[in-house]
Amino acid sequence: MDPRTVKLHDCEFSTYIFEEEIIARVNMLAEQINKEYEHKQPLFLAVLNGSFMFTADLMKRISIPCEISFIRLASYQDMQSTGKVKEILGLSEDIHSRHVVVLEDIVDTGHTVHGLLQQLKERKPASVEVATLLLKPDCLQHPLDVKYVARSIPNDFVVGYGLDYNGLGRNLRDIYKIIS
Ligand code: IMP
Repeated sequence: MDPRTVKLHDCEFSTYIFEEEIIARVNMLAEQINKEYEHKQPLFLAVLNGSFMFTADLMKRISIPCEISFIRLASYQDMQSTGKVKEILGLSEDIHSRHVVVLEDIVDTGHTVHGLLQQLKERKPASVEVATLLLKPDCLQHPLDVKYVARSIPNDFVVGYGLDYNGLGRNLRDIYKIIS
């Protein structure tokens, strides 16, 4: 497929992972989760805003009994992670003794997921795992065990398929990476 570029604010981005590849990888994750959670009635916690497209495409392929709920954390500013533990907003479910799967758009330094997991574990779920669309393994600053990863990428800033650059780019159906 021909590369396409988009300009968002002051930066130029070029197509990087096309929708077809994303969907194929989401399919594989869904098959794995369907097998591993067959009798566990998992509770999926999707972290807004970035995970909304990933969550929709993944959940359409989850065929076992499950629940889905949406949570928010403090928003991500510019291109750097702050490292602060963010408050969980919107978690109305009792997760005690539940099998929880957190759905994330991207794990970069891992600060966000690390802080989130700490807070979730205090509520004594039966288990808690993370499923992320993207992982930047070179950037990880925590010994995180991210069980479900659709795609690992190098340390590039990416947008599209739910991911944004200062609010723009979430609606793009492919994933783009920054070129300038
Ligand atoms: P972490 O706490 O450094 O792992 O960052 C996680 C959050 O930072 C993600 O949920 C995204 O909102 C944001 N983020 C990290 N890398 C990128 C990127 O390449 N593009 C867009 N957002 C990103």
